[in-house]
Amino acid sequence: MMRNFSAKEADFDERVLKIARVIDEFESYRHSHATRIAALADALAQKFNFALHDRYSLQQAALVHDLGEFVMNRDYIKSNRPLREDERADVQRHTIIGEQEAAKRGLNRAVQLLVRWHHEWWNGTGYPDALQCEQIPLTARILRVADTYCALTDERPYNAAVSEAQAKCYLTGWAGIEFDPNVVKAFLSLEDLTELESFADEKKNQLFEEPVETVENKELFDKEIY
Ligand SMILES: [Fe+2]
Repeated sequence: MMRNFSAKEADFDERVLKIARVIDEFESYRHSHATRIAALADALAQKFNFALHDRYSLQQAALVHDLGEFVMNRDYIKSNRPLREDERADVQRHTIIGEQEAAKRGLNRAVQLLVRWHHEWWNGTGYPDALQCEQIPLTARILRVADTYCALTDERPYNAAVSEAQAKCYLTGWAGIEFDPNVVKAFLSLEDLTELESFADEKKNQLFEEPVETVENKELFDKEIY
């Protein structure tokens, strides 16, 4: 996590952390999703030699990126079924609603835009603005990779966690499509970070108590990450 911010910013961090905890609870993550993404995104930001203020904006955005989903408060977000077409279109609004909510809470413009663009895809098929390649700020491309990795490797009521290797395989498979290939490359070079550890391993330790469902590659690639 980041250090060396002024006392005022440190206070703000605490406020943002509180928002992050509420979002995590709403999203039914078993573990702290937001702080894990923030740590991995910051590790990537350092690989790309970001200035401190950019690292700070990225960290804030990582903590609140799904604020829009929390504010929308739709039951289907937590449902254990594929989304209908109208629900899919509705949930995509969480990026713009999140941007507005971040503004209401006094987060800076860079953070607001990162929240808006955290579902943009490298090939231009993401949302809400269908930005492509370098049109998407590097910070947003980093957030996309960190968010996906953390979502894949954490257990949720309707999704088993996959292993580190499977999650990295997913990132590689979608590099150049969903993800910036250079960000994926930088991600694969990260090591010795506890935040990289998959919670699937936690499940393995319970092997003798309950059978573990294995996630086949096909399921992994069918996994819905809106
Ligand atoms: Fe999102």
